[in-house]
Amino acid sequence: MKITFFSARSYDRQYFENLNVGKHELHFLEPALNEQTAMLATGSMAVCVFVNDRCDLPVLQILKSCGVQIVALRCAGFNNVDLEAAQTLDLPVVRVPAYSPHAVAEHAVALILTLNRKTHKAYNRVRDGNFELERLTGFNLHGKTVGVIGTGRIGSVFAGIMRGFGCRVLASDVVENAELSKIGMQYVPLHELLRASDIISLHCPLSPDTRHLIGHDTLAIIKPGAMIINTGRGALIDTKAAIEALKSGRIGYLGIDVYEQEENLFFYDHSETIIRDEVITRLMSFPNVLITAHQAFFTDEALTEIARVTLQNLEDFEAGKPLVNQVLLAV
Ligand code: NAI
Repeated sequence: MKITFFSARSYDRQYFENLNVGKHELHFLEPALNEQTAMLATGSMAVCVFVNDRCDLPVLQILKSCGVQIVALRCAGFNNVDLEAAQTLDLPVVRVPAYSPHAVAEHAVALILTLNRKTHKAYNRVRDGNFELERLTGFNLHGKTVGVIGTGRIGSVFAGIMRGFGCRVLASDVVENAELSKIGMQYVPLHELLRASDIISLHCPLSPDTRHLIGHDTLAIIKPGAMIINTGRGALIDTKAAIEALKSGRIGYLGIDVYEQEENLFFYDHSETIIRDEVITRLMSFPNVLITAHQAFFTDEALTEIARVTLQNLEDFEAGKPLVNQVLLAV
């Protein structure tokens, strides 16, 4: 089977080639998938895409006309795919639903610890010969209240870790997971979670319901000085509203691994160019904001699992087997 990878980086090649061992013809392309690049998949049975590849109707139509029969996401989220268009064009969409919830949950914790204990600043200070402690004060996590929005695979692992720190964990989800009450987590209405939490961590998918879940209205009721962590998807937060709340001090700390307009920014080196996105440059200017470029998934275990499950998804398709990881339109 010929598979064309879009937005491919050296690590994609490394992990997929390790598992493929000559079975399939893998074509790794650096450009993202869009209307201009879709033709590059001509002659491939499958395309393999990542979080910022565009899979809207025009792109899917081009892929279909190029002979592509299936779209394989090498990620869990599928908000970048027009599922209705894919269904109309008879293009199945498969994904990797749970390659490593631990990788993402642990990264959320890394953001919390870094923002709180300012290890990134301490590292630079000490390297510079500055051994002062001024302005490095943090707070104990033990006894603090952590609000988890979305208690699926990642949110539930995150909740368990925070319980391990001795935090009180509140949760909000449209579907409650009874197992989590056993570790002492408590479901409460969203507004209650927002009011009571010292740290709020977002682990729900991006959908029309969750877009700008953290915006003017919700920021107005959070605990003043609260920490907000987003490893879900950028548009869960209304970034402009967050900037206002950072300026007023309502948000005390912001840690994000995802950003609303990350599409042309993340996964590329812009160190020698002028960044024209003034929203992210404003965010970068706050001393209490920590941004990582969508790396929460980026562990050896997760990359191995992503490659394994993606190839399995495609082999099942080729063999006419049921697609256990197919993304279906919600009815
Ligand atoms: P999951 O599907 O296991 O869990 C999502 C949970 O969110 C479910 O329990 C669902 O009921 C809940 N939910 C849906 N709508 C909600 C709402 N309006 N309010 C509260 N909860 C709601 O998904 P999983 O694997 O835990 O991943 C969560 C998200 O994390 C993904 O959708 C993806 O966007 C993001 N992600 C980010 C990565 C990164 O590298 N930064 C890597 C992998 C996933």
